[in-house]
Amino acid sequence: NIIVSGPIHMALDYFNGQKLNKIVTIGGAGISTAANIPDFRSPDSGLYSKLEKYDLPTPQSVFEKEYFDKNPKPFFALLKEVLRYDYRPTTTHYFIRLLEDKGVLLRHFTQNVDGLERMAGLTNDRIVEAHGTIHVSHCTKCQAQFSLGWLRDQLLVRRHSIPYCDDKNCKGIVRPNVVLFGEPLGTQFMARSSEDIKECDLLIIMGTSLTVEPFASMIKHVPKTCPRIVINDTPVGEHLGIIYEGSKRYNRTVRKNAWRDVFIRGKCDDGVTHLARQLKWAKDLERLIGL
Ligand code: OAD
Repeated sequence: NIIVSGPIHMALDYFNGQKLNKIVTIGGAGISTAANIPDFRSPDSGLYSKLEKYDLPTPQSVFEKEYFDKNPKPFFALLKEVLRYDYRPTTTHYFIRLLEDKGVLLRHFTQNVDGLERMAGLTNDRIVEAHGTIHVSHCTKCQAQFSLGWLRDQLLVRRHSIPYCDDKNCKGIVRPNVVLFGEPLGTQFMARSSEDIKECDLLIIMGTSLTVEPFASMIKHVPKTCPRIVINDTPVGEHLGIIYEGSKRYNRTVRKNAWRDVFIRGKCDDGVTHLARQLKWAKDLERLIGL
């Protein structure tokens, strides 16, 4: 179910030679679609194609700080839809956990706020949730913290359209600790992204359109010798200099720069299963998933 373009053997040889212990993985919404969480930009199934009913200036407005401050209802209505279900980590989340277990993962950077990496058992220290998480919320006035259980109760059981702080004297709006457009990314991202990327010896990019900055541009700053594997169901990253045999920009002139990029076209779960098989880690991966 996958098509591999580019020098994958070189990346795998690195693994097999056990030279690697600083793998950086980068994830986006595409690693969670197999858990039934929609991504943002897929033409028919992405969230941004399904927001007409909220009558927004643009689909992205629902995640903009400026818009949220004026009208937080669409944000919470959307959140309600998402919180209605229980989600489980995918094969891809467990593959990232496997990299940690094998002692080769330097850091996993995720744009996702679903917390499925944690649920798959990655340790706190290995994850950077660049866009925050829905698992903790805070009062926008007094900064009190609230759990996901509390938020679910407010939105799904009590059916409030906006959750307000429990403190009667405060009554500020409570929202999840996610980064909205117009807000800075956390200090943890800023520090880790520049440090880790410099040290990275293999970059694996999975399930992201690489359209949102400053996250996307991180991939440009790995060392020049660092192989980059992209696993995605559509080609991505050419605008950031990812070049592999078969990509639109691939020609004689760029061929000399194309020696290190690999594109595995297909579902993330199939791509990581392929990698695990090549590395003879298939059984380990199955054990983690609980198969
Ligand atoms: P996008 O929806 O922009 O991109 C997801 C990518 O994954 C697309 O290229 C899909 O084709 C691909 N994809 C989907 N399911 C897949 C699967 N099972 N296997 C392989 N590929 C798959 O999502 P992100 O790149 O994560 O920010 O979006 C980045 C940011 O934009 C989000 O964090 C969010 C959004 O606006 C904020 O809200 C701040």
